[in-house]
Amino acid sequence: MVCRNSDFLKQVSATAEFFLSMDRSSSKTPPRIGIAWTDPSLEGKARQLARTLGLLPDPGQQCDVVLQLTPSRLELSCPGHPSLNGPVAVDFVRGPAGYRRRRGGSEVLLRALGHKANRRTVVMDATGGWGDDALVMAAHGCEVLVVERHPVLAALLLDGIRRASEHPATGKIAGRMRLVRGDSLQVMDRLRAQGTVIDVVYLDPMFPERSKSAKVKKKLQILQLLLIGRENDADPLLDAALRTARKRVVVKRPATAPPLGGALPSHSFRGRTVRFDVYLTDIPSL
Ligand SMILES: C[S@@+](CC[C@H](N)C(=O)[O-])C[C@H]1O[C@@H](n2cnc3c(N)ncnc32)[C@H](O)[C@@H]1O
Repeated sequence: MVCRNSDFLKQVSATAEFFLSMDRSSSKTPPRIGIAWTDPSLEGKARQLARTLGLLPDPGQQCDVVLQLTPSRLELSCPGHPSLNGPVAVDFVRGPAGYRRRRGGSEVLLRALGHKANRRTVVMDATGGWGDDALVMAAHGCEVLVVERHPVLAALLLDGIRRASEHPATGKIAGRMRLVRGDSLQVMDRLRAQGTVIDVVYLDPMFPERSKSAKVKKKLQILQLLLIGRENDADPLLDAALRTARKRVVVKRPATAPPLGGALPSHSFRGRTVRFDVYLTDIPSL
């Protein structure tokens, strides 16, 4: 399903499951996720979104994680995890993502993509997450197909792209971003079958948390919470990406981590804390 800058309630399809955990304190059980609303006039829309995503309406915010509809945006809060205080939304206009968008083109990520300002580069971001990396790519002229399989993150991303499309500073950038909610393995199969040209596939799979790294950033902690109990199938993603990308596959890794699946890259670009492994493919166009 491809969604572009319009009403997310209509576009987010109903395949999400509700996580049935009764233990709010355990770090091993998937979180219970509910839907709340800040204004009585939003109740109908929120209940519809709950049905679409397969989540429970939770006006009393009893769940571990709550997706909340406000008059201006969709946001996520974690009442079951007080350390993750305050709501989070996908905001491509302001905040850290906005800062990264405004920064010059010196990002190591851009060099790894091999994107040239005067050329068209079609990137599939196969692990969309909060969309921060996708935003940087789109801000520097790439056309980005963002794929995210977690229904809650996909809903937040779609809402962020919609708001960015309505703001003068980000309208054109958002126009270069398309969201697909689904599993990238299946999406890549479909794209290959259709003969759709993808120049670069970008992968940023979750890296297993190391016990010493207690102070991870809030958005990363929320990702870790949302993805508890979900499959981490990054190796097959790399295999599929190598068969799909016309020019290269770029994999983001922690600076000192081994390459994904033990597969040696053609070359790497190193940042302060992360590394981008580049796998050249040179698949001829059909
Ligand atoms: C570390 S996060 C990516 C963060 C992202 N680069 C950003 O800038 O916010 C990994 C994301 O990939 C998603 N993901 C993992 N496997 C996937 C798959 N097979 N298809 C689609 N999304 C996937 C997870 O749900 C998670 O949101």
